[in-house]
Amino acid sequence: VDVHVTLEGRGDLSVRIYRQLFDAVSDGRLRAGEQLPPTRELALRLAVSRNTVALAYERLVAEGLLEGRVGAGTFVADGPVRTRARHAPSGAPLELRRFWRTPPGPLGVPSADPPYDFRAGNPDRHLFPYAAWRRLVARELRPSAFRHTDYGDPAGHAGLRAAVARHVGVARGVRADADDVIVTQGAQQALDLVGRVLIEPGACVAVESPGYPPARQLFRSLGARVVGVPVDGEGLVVSRLPRTARLVYVTPSHQFPLGLPQSARRRAALLSWAESRNAVVIEDDYDSEFRFAGRPLDPLQNLDRGGRVVYVGSFSKVMLPALRLGFLIAPASLRPALRAAKWLTDAHAPVPTQAALARFIDGALLSRHIRRMSREYAARHARVVAALGRDFGAFLRPVPSAAGLHVAALARPGVDVVRAADRAAERGVAIRTLSYFGEGEDAPDGLVIGYGAIPVERVDEGLRRLRACFGAGGARG
Ligand SMILES: Cc1ncc(COP(=O)(O)O)c(C=O)c1O
Repeated sequence: VDVHVTLEGRGDLSVRIYRQLFDAVSDGRLRAGEQLPPTRELALRLAVSRNTVALAYERLVAEGLLEGRVGAGTFVADGPVRTRARHAPSGAPLELRRFWRTPPGPLGVPSADPPYDFRAGNPDRHLFPYAAWRRLVARELRPSAFRHTDYGDPAGHAGLRAAVARHVGVARGVRADADDVIVTQGAQQALDLVGRVLIEPGACVAVESPGYPPARQLFRSLGARVVGVPVDGEGLVVSRLPRTARLVYVTPSHQFPLGLPQSARRRAALLSWAESRNAVVIEDDYDSEFRFAGRPLDPLQNLDRGGRVVYVGSFSKVMLPALRLGFLIAPASLRPALRAAKWLTDAHAPVPTQAALARFIDGALLSRHIRRMSREYAARHARVVAALGRDFGAFLRPVPSAAGLHVAALARPGVDVVRAADRAAERGVAIRTLSYFGEGEDAPDGLVIGYGAIPVERVDEGLRRLRACFGAGGARG
């Protein structure tokens, strides 16, 4: 390894080199088996005599930290794992912008798989077509795939933008062509880009309450004044929107986390409200590819006549969240700014991954995977809904839903769902409450039951364990 050694300081040159190497081995930066640079090379780099370096090495060999191998070089010796703490410079706390002084915790911190995983949001990673995806990515890592050695287009790979436009056109009725699409790292980056180009400090952004915490927190981090707007049986209550909202973030196909669709009437009302207030609407359509019953309503993007809807899509549910793939479809007036924001933020999404995804879509692998997963999730959805009706009637009232990877159920009066969820965790059942997504705002009491990550044959046992956590009776009092 190319170890960092300087000659700063005082005293014998050889001793200075010795000390730095000693520290690097002791604190674990250099690990057993790693090779040190040849004495000649390090001496040349430091402009000292070879003997000066050799002396330092010899001392470390004598102390058992390094070992010479004839004809091969000098290596860090095997020995007890060295973990002496290495101290980063410390000092007075540095001044952060106000929002970051209490940073929001990530919702999706990796954790071990619980035996019965009803956490909302995760797709079934065991059923992803890894071999096909690997082949497509490998193909894009051949030298011939790199026709350009410089950076790619910030808006995304041309083939992928066209494939995405076709895919959402067919699957969701979104009206777009390739030029309208900007490829992002997940839906989250799409929200970030829109926020960056629209939110002036202190501007009002309206979000659903309960809603998707990462969106709310992101807008706040960009300096917005974020206002939660209630959701009822028809979705976001348009009449409760703050008059000054410049941006409205909604999940109309499958409200997160309540799971119901926004009614056609409310969609029309939201669009005409945005028109009258000169506001922009972000439509986050994160998981509606999975639909089990009924006819999907037209997306806001399709109903929008005034060019005020930004449609945001994600490949986190239909593929894997870890791939970080998503996109936005924006009205023409926002596109140059969004493209520039993408460029300033991270130049563009990795080209090989984008090209592989284009082939994944064009080769119908994505639609085949979605069809397969829809059948799978439909079976799980049916099991969950049946069990809720059969066994939980005294405690929970399911919210009707026919799409996505989770259903919500409201607590009947007096039922303590937080306690039930805590108890369930002790029995290997991971499940989240609605209040978890409400950030202390006016979220109703209830549970969000995700079935993306739990195989259908484990659903019944998982819910049986959950049921036991509610005790024998129904509502208290
Ligand atoms: C409402 C909502 N939007 C978007 C996403 C996906 O975000 P991303 O594409 O950044 O993974 C999720 C995932 O849980 C979600 O619940």
